[in-house]
Amino acid sequence: MSEDLADYLRKNDGRIREELFDLLRIPSVSARSEHKADMIRTAEWVRDSLKSLGFETGIHQTKGHPIVIGEWRKAAGAPTVLIYGHYDVQPPEPLELWTSPPFEPTVRDGRIFARGSVDDKGQFFLHIKAVEAHLRTRGKLPVNIVFLIEGEEEIGSENLAEFVSANRELLKADAVVISDSTMYAEGQPSILSSLRGLAYFEINVQGPAGDLHSGMYGGAVVNPATALAKIIATFHDEQGRVAIDGFYDSVREWEPEIREQMRQLPTDDATFLKEVGAPALGGEHGYTTLERLWTRPTCEVNGLLSGYTGEGAKTVLPARAMAKVSCRLVPDQLPRDIERLFKAHVARVAPKGVTVTCEHLHGGRAWKAKLEGPIFDAARAALESAFGKAPVITGEGGSIPVVSDFEEMLGAPVLLVGFGLPGENAHAPDEWISEENFRRGMVAMAEMWDYYAAAVAAA
Ligand code: BES
Ligand code: MN
Ligand code: MN
Repeated sequence: MSEDLADYLRKNDGRIREELFDLLRIPSVSARSEHKADMIRTAEWVRDSLKSLGFETGIHQTKGHPIVIGEWRKAAGAPTVLIYGHYDVQPPEPLELWTSPPFEPTVRDGRIFARGSVDDKGQFFLHIKAVEAHLRTRGKLPVNIVFLIEGEEEIGSENLAEFVSANRELLKADAVVISDSTMYAEGQPSILSSLRGLAYFEINVQGPAGDLHSGMYGGAVVNPATALAKIIATFHDEQGRVAIDGFYDSVREWEPEIREQMRQLPTDDATFLKEVGAPALGGEHGYTTLERLWTRPTCEVNGLLSGYTGEGAKTVLPARAMAKVSCRLVPDQLPRDIERLFKAHVARVAPKGVTVTCEHLHGGRAWKAKLEGPIFDAARAALESAFGKAPVITGEGGSIPVVSDFEEMLGAPVLLVGFGLPGENAHAPDEWISEENFRRGMVAMAEMWDYYAAAVAAA
């Protein structure tokens, strides 16, 4: 359909790669205050790359990291699209497990390794280059485009909902497009139909005022590590269900058609088992692996800390113990309700003899797409053209907190179309994006704007 776009992207492949590598070299770790200057530098980098294409740009301060906005609104009468992405990345640790350093992008076996390569720098950057292909070959775009690239997704997008709510006019769009997810399999383009939500907690258990000699005091003082282990052991029943009162009350059943589509996807637990490298799979009884990941809520321990963990043996009764626990939520569980239920549960099961506190760190709602309308038709057509295969509909276990806010506050459908792959190591050492997906993704997203403009014009 649009050979000029694909041709442009092919011819500029080397330069585009260099630009991506520059972006990947900036350690924009949102969780760490020592990277504050890097966050600003990255926001400016993104702003400049949009500005050089003729976008009107702005950097908006928040209580946290800045939001980059770029607007191109010269397609009179054509629809407007909001493209969302995030320039922040997860901390790279443990560093010793990276084959090449996290902020020195390196290509091996057709994969670009770097923190943020797939989550999400490579994926929003391919949209900027897709837009560039239009502007540099034709001097214009067939649709109006607003970029919103934030710097706090990996820490819960705490300040974004407020910004979206206060800037409804600026962000007003006919569709929202996000590439921050994965394809179902190599060569199999995918449109995402759901995301899980999140409610994240920290539990602190305080025992004695300070660490004690475990011989002189052990047996007569309640051990906070044991107390915390007992609390954690109450989170699930023998069937793998979350045993928090009321936890499932607002869980919505999946539509039979979507479940059927999910059942049609080629899957096998052996491949999945290999991907995770665990001795066996486990979870809620009565559900398949995909159902467990995409349609069921969870309660997972993310981190545990207590007592002596150094070399050798130290006989000590620790003064405190701490756990980070997160619940993944499904429609229509609300983070606020889960916070209330979770805290009540922890308070109820807390053993005597220790002081237990539970704090909610951040949360976000689950999301489910309607998958209808011109933006979805355009995505299907563009993905099929660029990948030579029609997209499948998938679900997702991860979360992007702002998605349901966009839908609600802007009243626009959200399209999630991702170019990551299973095993991409997002949030882990050796994160990578496939070069092939990066290239095809660019072409697909460039072509999508032609299809979308045509679909809206025809409607
Ligand atoms: N891009 C991911 C979420 C994701 C992963 C969506 C795979 C679809 C497929 C996002 O950057 C992320 O990591 N989200 C966090 C949210 C949290 C920090 C609020 C998550 O899911 O843990
Ligand atoms: Mn992401
Ligand atoms: Mn992430």
